[in-house]
Amino acid sequence: MSDNEAPPNGGGALRDRFGRVATDLRISLTDLCSLRCTYCMPAEGLDWLTKAQRLTDEEFFRLAALFVRLGVRSVRLTGGEPLVHPTLPDVVAGLAALDPRPEISLTTNGVSLDRFAERLVADGLDRINVSVDTLDRARFAELTRRDRLPEVLAGVAAASAAGLAPIKINSVLVRGSNLDEAPALLSWALRSGYHLRFIEHMPLDADHTWSRDDMVTADEILEIIGAQFAVVPHGARTSAPAEEFDVVDGPDRAAWTAPVGRLGIIASVTRPFCRECDRLRLTADGQLRTCLFAQSETDLRGPLRNGASDADLARIIIEAVAQKQAGHGIGSATFVQPERTMSAIGG
Ligand code: 5AD
Ligand code: SF4
Repeated sequence: MSDNEAPPNGGGALRDRFGRVATDLRISLTDLCSLRCTYCMPAEGLDWLTKAQRLTDEEFFRLAALFVRLGVRSVRLTGGEPLVHPTLPDVVAGLAALDPRPEISLTTNGVSLDRFAERLVADGLDRINVSVDTLDRARFAELTRRDRLPEVLAGVAAASAAGLAPIKINSVLVRGSNLDEAPALLSWALRSGYHLRFIEHMPLDADHTWSRDDMVTADEILEIIGAQFAVVPHGARTSAPAEEFDVVDGPDRAAWTAPVGRLGIIASVTRPFCRECDRLRLTADGQLRTCLFAQSETDLRGPLRNGASDADLARIIIEAVAQKQAGHGIGSATFVQPERTMSAIGG
């Protein structure tokens, strides 16, 4: 491809050796976060990137435009915490102006969302996932090391009022912490009309305390939920990471917003979906990761700042995607946790 030629348009340029086509890009806008969840990072935080290391909005736009021309159809903004990024609404507006326009979604911890929800929707935000691991204020303060549950709940309500639907709620269940709250979280979601998804805890924590024996599995979650709710699979398994269930009966049913509720379980560890994976990740410092658990990443910031053309960058991206690993291999004896944590990769 010459430098003047547009990179291949749409149609699966981002194909790997196993025939998977990448259509979903997750951009970690910043590694900074307003919370300090115990299962994610230490109390004192992490070694944050410097401003010079982080991509500028213009650099994010240039890369996002390229990815979209290469076939990416959906862009999810993550962090750290994307609402900490000072120009998040401008980023959303910039992505909405791309051609073809990707679907734009946000994964957030909800802190300060109440102040931004309406503006984000006006700027083009299509979908939102908010993390809520507990509804108990004291426990929230313990788990996230910040007393901000009321603000998070106000944020969820504001997102709903701004018209985002369905509101997806992510919960990570941790033994000895919030596991006993799984039914209460589901009841709350059913009463509020939110779509709750439990996420299996993955080995991406800064402290390396994750243990396979101790993690809460999808089977265990279904058993706990099944003791109080009647839950049946929702249609056939699709390529989406969440296994979906219909909640057809349970306590307090008269107060649900719909006769049949919805529950998702993202069992990345015990029921991996690597074979269907259509995701790529761009870190805040401009590294392309083709898997959450990859041991290597491809530098896009260097070439970008050294004058690479779009065609050069497209070539680097296409080659990196071609080499995407088959799966995460968490179950294998040779598995090594990646150096970057979840907060530095983006969820
Ligand atoms: N395993 C699974 N989920 C995690 N999250 C953060 N760290 C982990 C982990 N190690 C979740 C957050 C949020 C989403 C971005 O990822 O709770 O819901
Ligand atoms: Fe919690 Fe997410 Fe922040 Fe980690 S990045 S501390 S999981 S809110």
